[in-house]
Amino acid sequence: MKDSNFLKEHNARHLWHPMAHPGDMQANPPIIVTEAHGTRIRDIDGHEVVDAVGGLWNVNLGFSCEPVKKAITSQLDRLPYYSAFRGTTSDVIIELSELLHDFFSPDGLTRAFYTSGGGDSVETALRLARQYHKIKGDEGRFKFLSLKKGYHGTQFGGASVNGNSNFRKPYEPLLPGCYHIPSPYTYRNPFNETDAERLAQLCLSSLEDEIAFQGTDTIAAMIMEPVLGAGGVIVPHDTFMKGVREITAKHGILLISDEVITGFGRTGDWTGARHWGVQPDMATTAKAITNGYFPFGAVMICDSVAETFESGEASKAMIGHGYTYSGHPVGAAAALACIDETIKLQVQKNAAARGAELWCGIQALMERHEVIGDVRGGHGLMLALELVEDRESKAPAGKEVTEAIQAKAYQAGAMVRISGNNLLMSPPLVLTEQDVQIVLNALETGFSSVDR
Ligand SMILES: Cc1ncc(COP(=O)(O)O)c(C=O)c1O
Repeated sequence: MKDSNFLKEHNARHLWHPMAHPGDMQANPPIIVTEAHGTRIRDIDGHEVVDAVGGLWNVNLGFSCEPVKKAITSQLDRLPYYSAFRGTTSDVIIELSELLHDFFSPDGLTRAFYTSGGGDSVETALRLARQYHKIKGDEGRFKFLSLKKGYHGTQFGGASVNGNSNFRKPYEPLLPGCYHIPSPYTYRNPFNETDAERLAQLCLSSLEDEIAFQGTDTIAAMIMEPVLGAGGVIVPHDTFMKGVREITAKHGILLISDEVITGFGRTGDWTGARHWGVQPDMATTAKAITNGYFPFGAVMICDSVAETFESGEASKAMIGHGYTYSGHPVGAAAALACIDETIKLQVQKNAAARGAELWCGIQALMERHEVIGDVRGGHGLMLALELVEDRESKAPAGKEVTEAIQAKAYQAGAMVRISGNNLLMSPPLVLTEQDVQIVLNALETGFSSVDR
């Protein structure tokens, strides 16, 4: 390893960072993380903090999960790679499919298609949705519906169903046939409705309206996150996803639950769809499936969709889609160990308990600090604080304010994430009570630094 002077000097010089302005990264170089253990990360200067970001919503079991590390290294020794394209498979991907079958059976999802990450899972689900209707002879169903504020990755398909213009405008034109429904976001919405249940009904009416306008027989699928993550942890009322399920089922539209964040326990339940009592037609997973240690994902598919493909005629039902790394044996070994450990530790229970403590804590912070316009969470370990210039106008807080809060909180012991004017938290699900206090104290320091 090069020494720290070299690394600091070359930080962001010849490397562009995702979701960042390359010039800004050169002017304000990112924190260089060099080590991590448990729920903590350590930077190049030896400063150690609780990682309230959990990597990127993915390191659910923390940074020292020995079973996952061992599974990766022993798989590398035994079979580092083999293809799963037609004609070959590997032992681990078969074993993993059985584990995934059992894990997702309560969601009605029984078949897996492997991918290399969340965006690939979304792309796969969208493509399979179109193909499903073609196999059935519904050639005209090619459109996709999704929620404003939703996030589904940055491939062209995912970006086209994304609901945040920052991830869309620079890359337009996107895929034709993608339409967006208002999000159940009580703090800001076109209906000026602050009651979550009434807002859910209004958004559902908009969904019905859009379907009628587009024509039922033109729509392939609706994709949504059970709790919207990157869009600012938007927690819908508990009638919302059930309502979407009823409407989509009535119109023969497939429902894709994007579980890239919510899968494997983050909401306090094993999946987001299960959290709301809904069975989707497909679910996209990635991130925590390997605890973030290996890029891997899986699309889970329900019986009725599976049967359409499995009994479909060859010319229509052959899957002309896949990645070199679909079913990577090392990823599959990591996923097997990770899901075993996830179940053994019952991390969803700790997510619910620690999530409730953090939720209480951020509500108390809101009472003390005017810069916090809205707090969202209360369902496991995904939380957001929306920062504003003042509560009356709700004008989003500027970059100088949000970044100052983040920097102070970091110095005081917690890594939190800033996205627009939202401060986001998605810590490892193995977070301790002591970690929760460290995070809350660090946030207190951060917010006090900008109090007027
Ligand atoms: C809900 C959701 N879907 C899809 C993605 C894209 O995943 P990836 O970044 O692995 O492509 C993300 C990433 O954060 C996500 O949060």
